[in-house]
Order: sequence, then structure tokens, then C-alpha cells
Amino acid sequence: MSQKILVTGGAGYIGSHTVLQLLLGGYETVVIDNLDNSSDIAIHRVRELAGPNAQNLSFRKGDLRDKPALEELFASEKFDAVIHFAGLKAVGESVQKPLSYYDNNLIGTIILFKVMAAHGCKKLVFSSSATVYGWPEKVPCTEDFPIGATNPYGRTKLFIEEICRDMYQSDSEWKIILLRYFNPVGAHPSGHIGEDPRGIPNNLMPFAQQVAVGRLPALTVFGTDYNTVDGTGVRDYIHIVDLADGHIAALSKLENPSIGCEVYNLGTGNGTSVFQMVAAFEKASGKEIPLIKSGRRAGDCETVYASTDKAERELNWKAKYGIDEMCEDQWNWASKNPYGYESQESTT
Ligand code: NAD
Ligand code: UFG
Repeated sequence: MSQKILVTGGAGYIGSHTVLQLLLGGYETVVIDNLDNSSDIAIHRVRELAGPNAQNLSFRKGDLRDKPALEELFASEKFDAVIHFAGLKAVGESVQKPLSYYDNNLIGTIILFKVMAAHGCKKLVFSSSATVYGWPEKVPCTEDFPIGATNPYGRTKLFIEEICRDMYQSDSEWKIILLRYFNPVGAHPSGHIGEDPRGIPNNLMPFAQQVAVGRLPALTVFGTDYNTVDGTGVRDYIHIVDLADGHIAALSKLENPSIGCEVYNLGTGNGTSVFQMVAAFEKASGKEIPLIKSGRRAGDCETVYASTDKAERELNWKAKYGIDEMCEDQWNWASKNPYGYESQESTT
């Protein structure tokens, strides 16, 4: 019998791609999302892409902090595991509105964990972030590096990781995988689902994409004086489909009776600079991205990339795509949906 997975935040960027991979992999999937930072069109598109497996997807609009609604959901369906994506994720906004971040990310998560425990569902995959490595003393980052946080968003990731470790200490029935994502980019190769941030994008590729389609005039490069190959910041960009597949690998790992609370990096192990990424995107899109060279962005670090050894060894997972494919798929999505899910070209 197929496993039934609850996906919180499954209408969002990473969630929608993961739900599609789950459906294609034969899982039954229930999404709960309040649509605060996403569109239900993403769910329709996932259904279209899943073909006959779309019948295994159901969607509930709801907020994790609505405990009675969550109780009712767990009472009506039996979940084998939960993949928990739901949360707010903008670093700058978290500095302006820390209470919103603590309220949404921490309270929502604690309510989810309480309801899971009460219903005997103790298998969890959680979206953590490379942000917990801060400005690492060396690279590549291995999972045993010291962790910390420099902003409220990062602190919510740090706190939730610690909560998970404490839960497992108190009750060894919990099986938990904490996935530290590096920089997810790109889109499903169909171009029908992708990242569609509200407002002005904070992250490099969504910003570059909006410049390429003419929505924004130029990309500001934050810092050209880093001690890197060309002075710009270096990150570990990972194709969103590879990242989504990492969740399937994590779910399989949860079937291992000896697993407790484990952490894995999901990255490629390769560092790419801002200029290198822009050049790859210009090649993929055939568009010139005008650049404005500016000072460093507060809170940014110089070079961050993953050691992928542990995930390769223990999850039997490895990223397949390189930056050319990431940029091609990003452009395919952007050119088909220049205004995201609200584009005229919308097929739904
Ligand atoms: P996203 O904003 O596209 O998706 C998050 C989804 O959660 C949205 O659809 C939003 O509507 C929903 N949501 C938020 N709060 C909710 C609540 N209280 N109840 C129900 N639904 C709620 O973000 P994403 O890029 O897909 O990120 C998913 C997760 O991965 C987040 O936890 C994020 O912090 C983490 N993460 C993302 C990145 C990245 O660069 N995208 C990197 C590291 C970690
Ligand atoms: N950058 C620019 N211009 C922009 C946006 C970004 O030059 O308009 C640069 C940044 O300075 C950095 C690189 O592009 O050198 C990547 O920046 P992103 O904002 O795309 O990604 P970050 O690595 O700063 O952070 C992202 C998420 C965090 C998450 C982290 C690791 O925003 O939440 O990846 O997963 F923690």
C-alpha cells in the first residue's frame, strides 16, 4: 500500500516540486497551505503534471496555527510521515517583523508537532537551511560544523532543529530528518511550476529572472570585494528537482529502524559566484542582465557550499544537474510565466 504523506507548505516553491516528485513516485499526498506566499494555481499545475497520479493529491487551505483544524485533519486521515515546509522565509523581513516570524514558524511548528504526537505520527522531514552555518570558518560545510543564527529567520531554523533533537531525546519513537538546503534555484523542466515570489525578490535568481523578462531594470550585485574567484559571493546552487528528490530519499531513510534525529545537507558540493551565475543565466536566456555593482548586503557571507558526502552515503542521493540546466529551466519557467502564476499565459 502506498504511503500517505502530509506536506505543509506544499503550494510553495520547494513544496510544489516535492509534491510532484512524491506523486510521480507513487505516494499519496495531502497538502496543507494557507496560501500566504503561494497560489493554488501551483497545485492545479502539479495535478496536470502528475497525470493519472493526480488523484493521489488533495489540498486543504489552512494555517498550521489553527490547532482545531489540524486536529480534525489528523483525525480524518492517517499519515505515515510529514514533510514540513510551511513557514516564512525572508531574512530581511524577519529583522523588521521578528514576532511574525516567531509566531508563524515556531508556534505553527510546535502545534504541528503536538498534533502529530497526539495522533502517533512521529516521522518527520523538516526544511532547515544552510543559514545555520552562518559565515563558516571553512568550506565545504559538514553537518557537524557549529551552528548559529544572525537573524530571526535563521533563529527559527536553529530553534526548530533543537526542538527536534529534544523531542527525539524525550521519545525515541520519533524519526526525524533535518535537511539543510543550500540555494535552491531553477524550475521543473516543463516550465509549468517554478518560483513565484510576492513583491520584489530577495534572492539572486528570482531577481535576475525578473530583469530578464523586463519587470526590473537591473540586478544589483551585493559586494564585489569578497576574497573569491571574481570578488562576488559564492554559493551552492541546487536544482529544485534535485532538491525535491532529496526529500524522497529522506522519506526512504525514515523507514530505517535505526534512524533517530539526523541532519543532512542538500547541495551539490560546488561553489558558484554571482558573476558566474549571471553569465550562465545570460547564456540560457539569451538576455543581457544589466548589473549595478554595489556594497555588501548586511548579513551576507563570502563563500558557502556543502559537503554532500553524508547525504550521498546515507541517503543514497546526489544532485544530478549543473548550473547550465538550472538556468535553462529557470528561463523556461520565466519565459512561459513572466508574471508567475498570474501570467496571461496561465494554462489553468
Ligand atoms: P515558499 O514561501 O514558497 O513556501 C512556503 C509555503 O508555506 C507557502 O506556500 C506559504 O503559503 C506556506 N505557509 C507559510 N506559513 C504557513 C502556515 N502558518 N500555515 C500553512 N502554510 C503556511 O518557500 P520555499 O522556498 O518553498 O521554502 C520552503 C521551506 O524551505 C521554508 O521553511 C523555508 O524556510 C525553507 N528553506 C527555503 C530556502 C530557499 O532558498 N527557498 C532555503 C533554505 C530553507
Ligand atoms: N545577491 C546579489 N543580488 C541580489 C540578490 C543576491 O548580488 O539581488 C547575491 C548575494 O549577495 C549572495 C548571492 O547572490 O552572494 C546569493 O544570494 P541569495 O539571496 O540568493 O541567497 P543567500 O545565500 O543569501 O540566502 C538564501 C536564502 C536563505 C537561506 C540561504 C541558504 O535567502 O534563507 O539561501 O539556504 F538560508
